[in-house]
Amino acid sequence: MLSREENDLITRVGPGSPMGALMRRYWIPALLSQEIPEPDCPPVRVRLLGEDLVAFRDSMGRVGLLAEHCSHRGTSLFYGRNEECGLRCIYHGWKYDIEGRVLETPAEPAGSTLKDKVRHTAYPCREAAGVVFAYMGPQERLPLLPNYEWMTLPQAHLYVTKSIQDCNYLQGLEGESDSSHLSFLHRAFTETKRGGGDPDMYGKDGAPKLEGVETDFGVRMISCRNAGDGVTYLRVSNFVMPCHGFVPTGGLKGNPEGYTIHSHVPVDDEHALRFNIFFRRNRPVSEEEKQLEGGIGPGHIKVRNIHNDYLQDREEQKHETFTGMGKQFLIHDSCATESMGPIYDRSKEHLGAGDITAIAVRKFLLKSVRTLDMGKEPPHIMRTPQQNDLRHVACIVANIDASLDPKTYIQEVIAETKQKTIQA
Ligand code: FES
Ligand SMILES: [Fe+2]
Repeated sequence: MLSREENDLITRVGPGSPMGALMRRYWIPALLSQEIPEPDCPPVRVRLLGEDLVAFRDSMGRVGLLAEHCSHRGTSLFYGRNEECGLRCIYHGWKYDIEGRVLETPAEPAGSTLKDKVRHTAYPCREAAGVVFAYMGPQERLPLLPNYEWMTLPQAHLYVTKSIQDCNYLQGLEGESDSSHLSFLHRAFTETKRGGGDPDMYGKDGAPKLEGVETDFGVRMISCRNAGDGVTYLRVSNFVMPCHGFVPTGGLKGNPEGYTIHSHVPVDDEHALRFNIFFRRNRPVSEEEKQLEGGIGPGHIKVRNIHNDYLQDREEQKHETFTGMGKQFLIHDSCATESMGPIYDRSKEHLGAGDITAIAVRKFLLKSVRTLDMGKEPPHIMRTPQQNDLRHVACIVANIDASLDPKTYIQEVIAETKQKTIQA
């Protein structure tokens, strides 16, 4: 449970809010690269942290992210002309480059210096893994882009999607921090409706033993289920600052073939974007895997969404799946978190042992907000290449001997991961 004040502190992200200031210290996913596929293509609207923006790709292929409204008299630059290394407003022709410089003010007399006096809001962008990352914080605090292992994979090894979530980002993020829901929300009763992962294992023990361990990047979340016969079914996922869940996908392989990143990026206080970044280290993503990550229609709106009750089928719910909403985890998670309302009031909840990791994530976020408020650098901000060695942010899923200490096993897998990457 959080007090009303804490709930406000942790959920409000607009300009001037403490959580908004924290989020603005990180590179956050802003849009998919494919939304602006080529130089001089049409710009797209982007709303992040309560700010209306426009993204465009200039003639040199560089991405710009500008405040939507023209610095002259406010016309939307979404309608602008993307030409010759700049975005030109259609009202009086002011033209901006990706850094927000005003290149031309053609309605002004020759020799006018007006353009030199104006600097339009523009945020730096970087592309990796088919995602455009943006930094919306103070220029002098611009960090390195984190070097996660999946950022440099060939595009065929990645499958990246984006969907609009009709609720505050934290509701989605808490869903990443909650292994116990796997035994219920995502359960399927028949072969054909199974999603990814190991539903047989989730089903065996619906009350996993959870532990959240604070790390340099956020919280390592450990869940142990009693799988019978002296076996523990172990899952290790990570909350990574400021809004990412790294979740193990890909079978019982200790260190799986890859994992999935679910980023819950605030659009504003009541909406978020969920970026799903699915990757496989050593092979292309299969068509079947893409299907499981699907379910998103035009405009990044989910085909099953809160406005159509997720097309719930009560017969399916009786016989095939726990939700009656098909097999896509995205839809199950969305229903669970969006149906709480736009901003859930956490002073009304009743938490138990199944919420230990979600509580750890909240604590970490609150502590990080307060750290920044004290004028200190929050965690997981990359300043040096040494800091940016992030191979320890590993996800694990395995059946281990119940007598084994899961933390010892985790340390072994992380050491192995580092070794493998060095050899590669
Ligand atoms: S409002 Fe954009 S150029 Fe005038
Ligand atoms: Fe889930």
